[in-house]
Amino acid sequence: MTKEKFDTLRIHGGYNPADHNYAASVPIYQNAAFALGSAERGEAVAAGTLPDSYSYSRVANPTVDVFEKRIAELHDAVGAVAVGSGMAAISYTILNVAENNGRIIAPKNLYGATLDEFQTLFPKFGIECDFVDNINDLDNVKATIKPDTKAIYVESVSNPTTEISDIEGLAKVAHQAGIPLIVDNTFSTPYLFNPIKFGADIVVYSSTKGINGHGNVIAGLVVDGGHFNWANGKFPQLDENEFTIKSKEFPTDYSFNNFFGKKAFIERIRLKYLRLFGAVLSPFDAYLELIGLETISERISKEVATATKIAKFLKKNPHVKRVYYSGLPGDAQEDLAKKYYPKGIGTVVSFDLDGDLANVRKLLNSVKVFLYLPNVGDSRSLIVNPVKVTHREVAPDKRKANHLTNQLIRLSIGLEDSDDLISDLGQAIESAFKLKISVDN
Ligand SMILES: Cc1ncc(COP(=O)(O)O)c(C=O)c1O
Repeated sequence: MTKEKFDTLRIHGGYNPADHNYAASVPIYQNAAFALGSAERGEAVAAGTLPDSYSYSRVANPTVDVFEKRIAELHDAVGAVAVGSGMAAISYTILNVAENNGRIIAPKNLYGATLDEFQTLFPKFGIECDFVDNINDLDNVKATIKPDTKAIYVESVSNPTTEISDIEGLAKVAHQAGIPLIVDNTFSTPYLFNPIKFGADIVVYSSTKGINGHGNVIAGLVVDGGHFNWANGKFPQLDENEFTIKSKEFPTDYSFNNFFGKKAFIERIRLKYLRLFGAVLSPFDAYLELIGLETISERISKEVATATKIAKFLKKNPHVKRVYYSGLPGDAQEDLAKKYYPKGIGTVVSFDLDGDLANVRKLLNSVKVFLYLPNVGDSRSLIVNPVKVTHREVAPDKRKANHLTNQLIRLSIGLEDSDDLISDLGQAIESAFKLKISVDN
């Protein structure tokens, strides 16, 4: 049988009803632990040598397992691990690749909490980040690689100004240096873009966003393409002997590389970071993720169509100075958008409002359909002012280079009627300029 396509896998991937009392919808296994059956079986389950077996839900759970397998199949990847938030997915991935005094390379225009973590927290764990101004300046990225650099980390589409990263070019630079490319694909979702197809090695998500699509779960994912050679000598943590994977069948100590082969990285995320740091996804939340995922294509395609309409509307509004929705005709990244995003750049549109903070506040107080809150990828349309909320962590002197002005507004487009959204924005912008008040800062 030929490999099933995206729209089939998002409904059926990783699940066989015959293994679950023929339940059509994936059951919620709300259990902390599972009976081991017999002493012999218990030993094999604990050693991880019995496939699709469970002992304790911090390490694996049948509902979460279906979600992980479905996500892996949607990426044509060798494995995925679901965790309790996007930040947990990012943290575990960076620690797993660069622990023990490694360095990473990343752009400066990262999501605020990621930037804060790379800048201020990882250095306390011995991991340094070399930031570059323009991640698509491949010669500069190459020149930034040092002997102890362990990975290049990027967002496929940046938050909030939707810059596209040249994933294929960056993967080549990374691989020439024997290091992986890690991509935060949150804004794109696997429906719009699969970084692994263009050479990325590890993909991380805040699946709080478009994968779930309903704003009712905090969740994260790590996905492993399985193509990177982790045994190239640069990652001793995957070569060292590991007592947790010793068993009756495999009596000697094994390393992640020689026991798991292509799955070494993702299995180490599960067995070391998830098992020991413990940010698990609950079975109920995995179920909500699975339900959301079933409609990803219809949701995102409608949201992209509305986002495009809204971007065009904003471009014509006299109170809007600049619109950020990469790939619009005439945009500097039109070619990258055509190459990587034939189905559209995404559901987030940002814009610079004319005026000052007072106008921004008035606009935020005037919207009626858009909800003012710090999230994206919901079925509801959302609005936020990044410098005051989601990107507060970016130091004021570093904001200009990332287009983070006081007047920047980020929209996440949902599933409402596009005419209602446009009229809501139109009236809110109009209200914002009815009264001229000025405030400092
Ligand atoms: C691009 C991106 N990555 C990661 C995260 C963190 O995800 P979470 O809030 O699920 O921890 C966010 C959250 O907004 C995000 O926008």
